[in-house]
Amino acid sequence: ASLIWNVLGDQRDVNDIPVRYDDTELWRIHNISDALLRTVPVAEIMEQKFGANIWKENPDYLDLSITKAQANAARSFLNAHRMDTEVLARNVQDLIDEEQLEGIRATQSKLGRRTRKALNSGSEMNWNDYQSLETIYNYMREIRAKYPNICRLYTIGYTYGRRELKVLRISENPRDNKKIWIDGGIHAREWISPATVTFILSKLMQDWEHQPRYIRERTWYIMPVMNPDGYEYSRTVNRLWRKNRSPSVRANCFGVDLNRNFDIGWTSPGSSKDPCSDIYRGSAPNSELETKAVAEFLSKRKYNLEAYLTYHSYGQLIVYPWAFKAVKVKDSNVLQRVANTAAERIIQKTGTPYKAAVTHEVLGVAGGGSDDWSRAVLGVKYVYTVELRDRGQNGFVLPPKYIKDTAVEGWTVAETVAQAIG
Ligand code: ARG
Ligand code: ZN
Repeated sequence: ASLIWNVLGDQRDVNDIPVRYDDTELWRIHNISDALLRTVPVAEIMEQKFGANIWKENPDYLDLSITKAQANAARSFLNAHRMDTEVLARNVQDLIDEEQLEGIRATQSKLGRRTRKALNSGSEMNWNDYQSLETIYNYMREIRAKYPNICRLYTIGYTYGRRELKVLRISENPRDNKKIWIDGGIHAREWISPATVTFILSKLMQDWEHQPRYIRERTWYIMPVMNPDGYEYSRTVNRLWRKNRSPSVRANCFGVDLNRNFDIGWTSPGSSKDPCSDIYRGSAPNSELETKAVAEFLSKRKYNLEAYLTYHSYGQLIVYPWAFKAVKVKDSNVLQRVANTAAERIIQKTGTPYKAAVTHEVLGVAGGGSDDWSRAVLGVKYVYTVELRDRGQNGFVLPPKYIKDTAVEGWTVAETVAQAIG
C-alpha cells in the first residue's frame, strides 16, 4: 500500500487492490486453553505460521479465517496439540458477496416504496444495509439541522487519512444533566457497530419530546465511527480490516488497534508490539490521532459522565471492567445486575441471548481498551462493552437483514443504562 496526496490535499490509500477471500475458510478451534496452559500461543502461531486472520479469541475458542492452501498443515499442527477445528464457513468470500448483494437488494426494494418519503426527508440513512461514512456523517448533520436547540456537532479531530472525527451531543441541559457517552466503529470490520450507534441516535431523536425523563434529562455524546479510515478501508479494500490506517515507522505495515492504544494497562498481555499484528498497541499510549482526540475530548467533560458504552462485534456479550487485569471492579455486582436486566429485556424483545459478565473472564485479559480507560482514568461508573451479534455463524460479515433487530438490542442496553443511572 502506498499513499498519495490528491489535489485537495487529501491523503488516501489508492494503490490498494481489493482483497478477496475466495478459498478461505472460517474456523472455530476448540479447547485452546490446554494448549495455552502448555504455553503454546495458538493465535500467534496460526497468524504467523499459517497466515490466518484472527476473528475472535477467548478462553474457550479461537475463530479465524485461513486459506485452503494452509488448511492441511494447520490442521496437523492443531491435532498434534489436541485441538479440534470446526468449519464455520467454507468460503469467506461467499459470505462477503452475499452480504453485499443482500444489502443492494434490500435498498432497491425499499427505494421503490419509499422514494417519495426519502426525497421528502432528504436523508439517505436507513438500516436496510450498512452505510458509508459519508451517509453517516450527513445523517448527523441532518439531525443537528432538525433539532438545532438541543444538538451540537463537534469535529473532535482528524484521522491520519484526514477524515473528520465527529461527535454529536444531544442535550437540553449540558450544564446539569448526567452524561452518557456512546461510541461505535473502533474496529473497522465490525460494521454492525456504527449501524447500531446510528440507530440509537435515531431512537433518541424520534419523538424526543415524549421520551421518558431518564432519556430526555441526559446529555448524550454519540460517536458512531471512531475509526473512519479503517471503516472506509474495510468497505473498499479489505472487508476484514480491524485497525486504523496509520503507517508504522518500524515496519512496512499499517494500522494500530485503537482498543489497545488507550492509556491503561498498555503493556498488559492481550496486545502486541508487532506493527504487523492485528492487535498492535501502537508506539505509545495515545499514539493515534483517534485515541488522542477521544481521550482529550472526554477528559475535559468527565464531570457528570456516568456511562461509557462502546459497541463491538461479535459474541452477544455485555461486559464490564476490568479487561487489563483479571480483577473485578469493586461495584461489579451493580454492573452485573444492570447488564442482566438489559439481557433479559433483549430476550423479551428479539429473543436473542446475550451473556453478561466481567470482560477478562469471557474475552481474556487485554490492556489499552477504551472501556477500562474510562473507568480507571475518568472514573465513569457504568462502563460496558457490548459485543453485538452474532456468535460466529457469520461473524463480522453479519447479513444486513439482521441489522434492525441487532440495533434494537444495542438500543436496549443504552436505555437500560440510562435508567439505571437514576
Ligand atoms: N473485542 C473487543 C476487543 O478486542 C473487546 C473489548 C473488551 N475490552 C477490552 N478492554 N479488551 O477490543
Ligand atoms: Zn471490536
